[in-house]
Amino acid sequence: MQAVILAGGFGTRLRPLTYTRSKVLLPILNKPMIAYIIESLPENVERVIIAANYKKEQLEEFFDRNDFGKEIIINEEPKPLGTGGAVKFAEKYIEDRFLVLNSDIISSLDMKDMIRFHVNREAFVTISLWPVENVSEFGVVRIEDDGRITQFVEKPKPEDAPSNLINAGAYCMEKEALDYIESADRLISMEQEVFPRIIEDGKRFYGYKIEGFWIDVGRINSYIEVNKILLRRQGKRFLIGSNCEIRGDLENSSVGNNVEIGEESKVSSSVILDNAKIGKDVQIENSVIGEGCVIGDRAKIINSVIGDEEEIEEDKIVKDERIWTKPIPKGYPDKQIGNVIKV
Ligand code: GDD
Ligand code: MG
Repeated sequence: MQAVILAGGFGTRLRPLTYTRSKVLLPILNKPMIAYIIESLPENVERVIIAANYKKEQLEEFFDRNDFGKEIIINEEPKPLGTGGAVKFAEKYIEDRFLVLNSDIISSLDMKDMIRFHVNREAFVTISLWPVENVSEFGVVRIEDDGRITQFVEKPKPEDAPSNLINAGAYCMEKEALDYIESADRLISMEQEVFPRIIEDGKRFYGYKIEGFWIDVGRINSYIEVNKILLRRQGKRFLIGSNCEIRGDLENSSVGNNVEIGEESKVSSSVILDNAKIGKDVQIENSVIGEGCVIGDRAKIINSVIGDEEEIEEDKIVKDERIWTKPIPKGYPDKQIGNVIKV
């Protein structure tokens, strides 16, 4: 079996962290997001196609250094093709029934069980589902008691949402589902175009509810949250990488490798990436500190993101900000594009 991991897109909602890296290489408890996904694949998935574009060299480098015991193909799109276009572009590597996975999700989904569910129902497409209170940033389904989905609507207005069950971003598809995606020179959204088309055509389209936990890591708050949730699940208050000098206090926080934190400093609900140097009496709360940042003594960083290699002066207060002083990478979009139809 094959799996396509949707690892393109710019990760605009995670900027400035994604100005310098592929979203899927952002570490969660010091392990890149994509590693969690690959490790959760069933054994019978022997080939993994990484649908990539932005920063794909970083992915190549990562897979050169790390072996997951599966064939890994990095399939570079000439330009972002959208969630549907990217899957179609992987067609030549797909032999039979296959999985598609959004790469910005950490969950307890049992993919083997989802495949079993799909096979038992002789489904054409099965998508994983998760209940949320506010559905407006997700794909939402109308579902029958037997699990059959009769409507899929991406990012509906709350009053138009058919239920509180959202697309959890993992699909099992028959190879023939690729016929519903035309090869095109434009962005094709799986969620906005392809799924509604398949449902309308009366194909067997099913929903499989995830048990346990599900976290979307596509936004800064949820990125911080996922680190905290996994810490809690491991019964830890914090995690410290190798070669660190930590003199301050840590609470619900994750710290990368080669990090220094000075005396009297307090870090809570935050993620500190590799090689950061944090001075004395610094307060960091609900924030992400990028790689190689230097934070001066007595600075306060609250609800903020500091991009890689940035410097924050002594005594400075940074609140509700995203700090980035260097040029923005060429071609980086102002807003989310991959899963949105451009007309
Ligand atoms: N290769 C490639 N090319 N990948 C892409 C592209 C592209 O053009 N655009 C987006 N992606 C990847 C993203 O990196 C992500 O892993 C996945 O496709 C989904 O795109 P997002 O941009 O993260 O979409 P979203 O978070 O707004 O919504 C999606 O996820 C929700 C669950 O978190 C949709 O699938 C929703 O229906 C779903 O509820
Ligand atoms: Mg997302």
